[in-house]
Order: sequence, then structure tokens, then C-alpha cells
Amino acid sequence: MRIPIVAANWKMHKTIPEARAYLKRLIELAGQDPGVEVVVIPSFTALPAAAALLAPTPLGLGAQDARPESAGAYTGAVSVAQVADLGVRYVLCGHSERRKLFGEDDALVGRKVRATLHHGLAPILCVGETLDERKGGRAWAVVERQLGEALASVGDPDGLVIAYEPVWAIGTGVAAQPPAAQAMAARIRGWLRKRFGSRGEAIRIQYGGSVRPDNAREFLSLPDVDGALVGGASLDPDAFWAIVRAARG
Ligand code: 13P
Repeated sequence: MRIPIVAANWKMHKTIPEARAYLKRLIELAGQDPGVEVVVIPSFTALPAAAALLAPTPLGLGAQDARPESAGAYTGAVSVAQVADLGVRYVLCGHSERRKLFGEDDALVGRKVRATLHHGLAPILCVGETLDERKGGRAWAVVERQLGEALASVGDPDGLVIAYEPVWAIGTGVAAQPPAAQAMAARIRGWLRKRFGSRGEAIRIQYGGSVRPDNAREFLSLPDVDGALVGGASLDPDAFWAIVRAARG
């Protein structure tokens, strides 16, 4: 049994007062038991305020990125150890915006995944192909390489989540076709099973890319999709909650 996991990636949005107002509304909507794992992933600046508000609730907290080194001369960066301090449970590793805008390669993403697991946190490993790669018939080859390199020396994947986010669907309003998302999730599942045996079966796979309240159910009802990673539509607490409700069925 895999409990669905729906996460709000705010990207570079919201000041601390805006984050507080959002989370108060989300907590109101969530009531006692969301029945689904719900994770909010704010900017670093809002993490302490979010941690304080979410601590007494079942809602989880994530960081959008973290450096694998425990400390050192990395101006502007924040380490996994530092976000662990704040009560963060999840760390996004290898989001396509980090890969593209900040030049992250598979080797660095792998180090982030291992550091996250080492600190007892759960990596959300983001994988996905560009439009050119899909048109060229290389979608699976790309995703397989991203998985293989990021998980190369991971022994125990406990807590690991995979987010399949086709790059061309992110922020474009053009989501993947649900059968294509299911086909990719099933291939990822097969790969995880081969790599981690029965423990691979427990790893949750999210779909991300233009998920909205009106299409969420189509993705969240797919057999190998166990949740969603939501960008734009997660910026409004009511819209995000409508997506969470779609995961509850
Ligand atoms: P959108 O939901 O805005 O397409 O973003 C998806 C995403 O990148 C979540 O990490």
C-alpha cells in the first residue's frame, strides 16, 4: 500500500507574511486528517515560519534544494544538514529548473540524494525528458539515465520518492496525456523493482507538470502514479487543496 503524496513546490514565490497566510488557510482546509500525505515546499526564507506553523499538524515540510556537503565555502548555498535542523522531512533533488538554470548534472543530483538519505530525510528525485528528447524517442533513455546515475550507490531507498516531471509540461499549461504518464510511471516502477527488489515496490512515484484542480483526478487515479508535484496551481491554498482532494478519490 502506497499512501499518496501531494506536494506544493512554491518555487521562488511568497514572502514570509504571504507564506503564513497561505499555511493558516491550508491548515483550516486540512482539518484533522487529510488521508493523503501533504507536503509544502517553500523558499528557504519561509522555512522557519512554515516549520512552526506545520509542526502541530500532519502536514509535511520540504526544501526545494540543498547542498550535499555538510559545511564549507559555498556562498549562497544551504546544506542538507541545515534544512534538517528546521524540521524539514523532504528535499527536492534535481528539479529540472535546477538542472537547467543552475547547471546541475546527474552526479551532483546523486550526491544530493545520498546526503538527504544520510541525514534521515526523504529525497524527492525529479526526473523527466525535454520536448526534443521525447520527439527523438529518447524519453525513457533519459529518465533511465537520470535514475541510474542519481541512485547509483543508494543501498537503502527508504523514504525515496520519484517525481516524473516532463520538462515540456512544467509551467506550460500542457500536461502530459494520462496514458503517457502512466506508461512512464510503470517503466519507472519496473526499474525500481529491478534495482531495489520488493523495497522498490514501496517507492512512491509522483507526476508533475501543469497539474490543476480540473485535471488532477486523471493523474491521481493512474495505477502507478502515487501523487503529484504541483507548481503554479499550488500557490493558492484552495486550488492546492482541491488537488489533494482528488488524491483522496
Ligand atoms: P507546474 O505545476 O507549474 O507546471 O510546475 C510543476 C513543477 O515544476 C513542480 O515541481
